Amino acid sequence: MLVVSLAPAADGAKYASELGVVTSAPRPLNVGLIGLGTVGSQVAERMLSWGPQLSRRAGVELCLQKVLVRDVAKRRTIEISPDLLTADPSEILENPAVEVVMEVAGGDEPMRSYIERAIHAGKHVITANKVVMAKHGPELLDAAAGKNVDVYFEAAVGGGIPLISTFRTDLQANRIERVSAVINGTTNYVLGRMASAGLPMADAVREAQEAGYAEADPSDDIGGFDATYKLAILASIAYEIKVRPDEIYREGIEGIEPVDFRYARELGYAIKLIAHTQRHPGRVEARVHPALVSLEHPLARVEGAENAVFVEGDLVGQVLLVGQGAGGRPTASAVVGDLIDLARSIRRGVQSRPSFSFDDRVGVIPIGEVKTRAYYRIRVDDRPGVLAAIGQVFAEEGVSISSFIQKDAWSHDMTVELVVTTHPSLEASLQKARERMARLEPVHAVSAFLRVF
Ligand SMILES: NC(=O)c1ccc[n+]([C@@H]2O[C@H](COP(=O)([O-])OP(=O)(O)OC[C@H]3O[C@@H](n4cnc5c(N)ncnc54)[C@H](OP(=O)(O)O)[C@@H]3O)[C@@H](O)[C@H]2O)c1
Repeated sequence: MLVVSLAPAADGAKYASELGVVTSAPRPLNVGLIGLGTVGSQVAERMLSWGPQLSRRAGVELCLQKVLVRDVAKRRTIEISPDLLTADPSEILENPAVEVVMEVAGGDEPMRSYIERAIHAGKHVITANKVVMAKHGPELLDAAAGKNVDVYFEAAVGGGIPLISTFRTDLQANRIERVSAVINGTTNYVLGRMASAGLPMADAVREAQEAGYAEADPSDDIGGFDATYKLAILASIAYEIKVRPDEIYREGIEGIEPVDFRYARELGYAIKLIAHTQRHPGRVEARVHPALVSLEHPLARVEGAENAVFVEGDLVGQVLLVGQGAGGRPTASAVVGDLIDLARSIRRGVQSRPSFSFDDRVGVIPIGEVKTRAYYRIRVDDRPGVLAAIGQVFAEEGVSISSFIQKDAWSHDMTVELVVTTHPSLEASLQKARERMARLEPVHAVSAFLRVF
């Protein structure tokens, strides 16, 4: 019987003879794990508790050889032999017995270097690290191809949702036209609570932290950075081009107020943090920002900390992938799934999935050249001529108005709030209109400027 062993096996042959297994049985696949936190402990736990099943599916015994952590003395949430733990990266990266390195520690350095070292040592890599894959993925994949090893990164985007494997295998016959996603659970939870309970953002963030959906420092999520890393990976994979996070237009959800949800609903929209990429002749569009999403669109119905990715391919049409985008268990599902897939191909001596070849000639369109619709919330003096002045700005910028809402005057300062949505226009014109309106004498503030998706 094949089992997952947590006892180190120096080499497959010795292990096999100790067990009295027939010598023709394949030697175990030795795995080094980097990180034993939220994700890593669930990966180790799955390997411990479900060993025989995993090994049967992999067609080879999976053996956890070493686990790299920062602090070997730290109390762990799972029971694990202290002998397995190390704080010395070379015990994994330079260990000739280790064939696969699973990195679930996170952050750019030293993890990028560790992954590079593993590849150069001829080891396959599985990583959940979106920062490393977004910033350095194409180079690491090129290096891996040069060493005839593979880098798997299903868990780096969308936690447990099978995204990378879907692009890498099931959608291979397609030219991907666009990918639109709600890909950050924290912001989706926060926006959802602002919409349903009318909470100010600070309160919704605090609630998300208490519920375990937001980090103590939530700025990566709220500022749209996390979604940008994920979109960089998705766009690179979808089009086989190198899309860097700093080429993606990014706006966080910081400026949104509870009143925007009321106006949005009145107009037939929800508000979501949208990551969107779309193919254009010779270039691609890639942007992350909050947007009004039609209540009819599936992305408007993504609730709580869930993620959803909407893909359009020329052959398959539209595909929607939905699920838990974070959390130790869903993410471990992706990591261990990668391990089984990789183990099968290693033992068969084949690469089961096509490798990437990135086209350097295709770039990202500057945001000003992108066409989109916009929503403006404007506070103005309640007096004649204001609408005409605002209408003139839009007309001069070539932006045509789609809808318009005006609420009653505020009794104390005689101002009113205007909400304007536009037809599709160049982003540069929409921005220019926003700046010019803010300078008009009767305009107190352009309090909100959002895209309409
Ligand atoms: N958590 C999620 O829901 C989720 C979802 C999708 C993807 N991911 C990705 O998965 C990765 C891990 O996330 P996590 O939430 O599990 O992180 P975590 O709970 O903070 O755990 C990090 C682990 O890595 C170890 N570690 C960190 N830096 C290290 C270093 N320099 N050398 C050795 N060990 C180091 C830590 O060791 P100590 O325990 O000794 O401190 C800890 O065990 C990240 O890339 C994250 O983006 C996470």
